[in-house]
Amino acid sequence: MRIGVVKEIKPDEYRVALTPAGARELAQHGHEVYVEAGAGEGSAFPDAEYEAVGARLAGADDVWEAVDLLLKVKEPIAEEYPRLREGQVLFTYLHLAADEPLTRALMESGTTAIAYETVETADHQLPLLAPMSEVAGRLAAQAGAHFLEKPLGGRGLLLGGVAGVLPGKVAILGGGMVGYNSAVIALGLGAQVRILDKSVNRLRQLEQVLSGRVELVMSSALEVERAVLDADVVIGAVLIPGAKAPKLVSAAMVKEMKRGAVLCDVSIDQGGCFETSHPTTHSDPVYVVDNVQHYCVSNMPGAVPITSTVALTNVTLPYIESIADVGVREAVASHPSLALGVNVIDGKVTYEAVAEAHGLEATPLSEVLPLEPV
Ligand SMILES: NC(=O)c1ccc[n+]([C@@H]2O[C@H](COP(=O)([O-])OP(=O)(O)OC[C@H]3O[C@@H](n4cnc5c(N)ncnc54)[C@H](O)[C@@H]3O)[C@@H](O)[C@H]2O)c1
Repeated sequence: MRIGVVKEIKPDEYRVALTPAGARELAQHGHEVYVEAGAGEGSAFPDAEYEAVGARLAGADDVWEAVDLLLKVKEPIAEEYPRLREGQVLFTYLHLAADEPLTRALMESGTTAIAYETVETADHQLPLLAPMSEVAGRLAAQAGAHFLEKPLGGRGLLLGGVAGVLPGKVAILGGGMVGYNSAVIALGLGAQVRILDKSVNRLRQLEQVLSGRVELVMSSALEVERAVLDADVVIGAVLIPGAKAPKLVSAAMVKEMKRGAVLCDVSIDQGGCFETSHPTTHSDPVYVVDNVQHYCVSNMPGAVPITSTVALTNVTLPYIESIADVGVREAVASHPSLALGVNVIDGKVTYEAVAEAHGLEATPLSEVLPLEPV
């Protein structure tokens, strides 16, 4: 199969959809890989590294035109809509429920659009979202430590303390993928860490891996308030799948927090879990409410494209190989998790939540593609 990778043109996006290592795996499977010149630069992968593993460098027009399977990181933006076409499979983050114009452009084009974020395993894990949560969780702890510094408007506290001086306190709301990874880095920095989660099963899992190193607390309004008022850094990492994040921290609570404390709202992409949160960008990441620093960057992994690109290819490659080796119909038929990734095909929306979001009728995938294992 001919597989293509184009340079991301969305502002502030430096990731690329395939590493040279991934390109080599595909070439070894007998596929032709086309890479837009300069596509890997933002992630420190020069063109020469792709060429060295057998990929062909080309202009954007040629890559879009030549390939059967187009790999991207972010959803196509308006100027890319005219490039969408029938007979091509597009595999990327799409987030269509929040983007009606793109949904309609995909339908009109006849392309087969598979979204990373809706690929879902039988145990309801989202394998192509998880690495970005790992990255964001780890960055949140770093951001918390950074913005505690006095010249940056913080309390002026070293999170790890020093010999004879108490460390800072980090409260993490939600102990899932983001929360666990925040805890690992906060612990590494020497902080005192408390994780609150409302799933007792999740608390048990965390107990097994972090036993004795963190305080694990069942989340309730009272415990959230206690933890938040006592903390130097609060990391918001809750998720209720398919819903807006619950506002666990009220504006009144923020008023009572320590002066110069830091709130990192990682859940901001789902609306945020602090009442005082609003989305920020990497170029202007923090603002202050009632003397509390708010870090609410909605695309945190974009700050570390070298790490994020490799983490992304690690998880997407098996699915890419599967589509490339046997074609999209057979790949989808043999992998129910990939079938859930199909959002639009043959002009029809097959992912129910997307159809519902835009008042469209969802077409069962089985009507468009054969889903019996082959
Ligand atoms: N800002 C960014 O750049 C960025 C990047 C990646 C992920 N995220 C977001 O981070 C959030 C967390 O993602 P994740 O992968 O860790 O999800 P996850 O499903 O792995 O974990 C969420 C956890 O929140 C817990 N939870 C739900 N309600 C709670 C409550 N009331 N109190 C305490 N815990 C509660 C759940 O039990 C679960 O353990 C999501 O909103 C995700 O979209 C943001």
